[in-house]
Amino acid sequence: MAMYEFPTAMAANVKAEFTKECDKGQALYNLTCAKCHNRKVKGRMVIPDFPADKLKGYELRVANGQHEANMPDEKITAEELVMISTFLNYKKKSGVPL
Ligand code: HEC
Repeated sequence: MAMYEFPTAMAANVKAEFTKECDKGQALYNLTCAKCHNRKVKGRMVIPDFPADKLKGYELRVANGQHEANMPDEKITAEELVMISTFLNYKKKSGVPL
């Protein structure tokens, strides 16, 4: 089951690395972001498609009041934010907008 969409030109060993990173990112997303961002569509919870240009690392912490209150460094590290962004960039598109 393909959960991620990597560029076809990406080498197999690199894909394997990104798959690991995406798996970790997905687990972190589920813990940290899903409660606010998943959308119920026809009775199923769906992860929306986050535009790559909105996944701006540190700036995400202060993108809005909800983030400022819920995403301090103590709760989610910079490294974890990178893993989540990697997951959101390469996850299979759901067609549901952010
Ligand atoms: C407490 C609720 C909450 C949590 C937790 C949360 N967000 Fe958000 N997020 C929001 C709200 C509200 C907005 C602004 C409205 C919108 O675009 O949906 C937003 C906006 C965004 C945006 C768009 C920012 C922009 O520049 O327009 C991105 C990307 C995003 N969130 C990613 C994340 C990620 C990744 C996580 C987990 C690390 C996360 N959010 C956790 C509530 C939350």
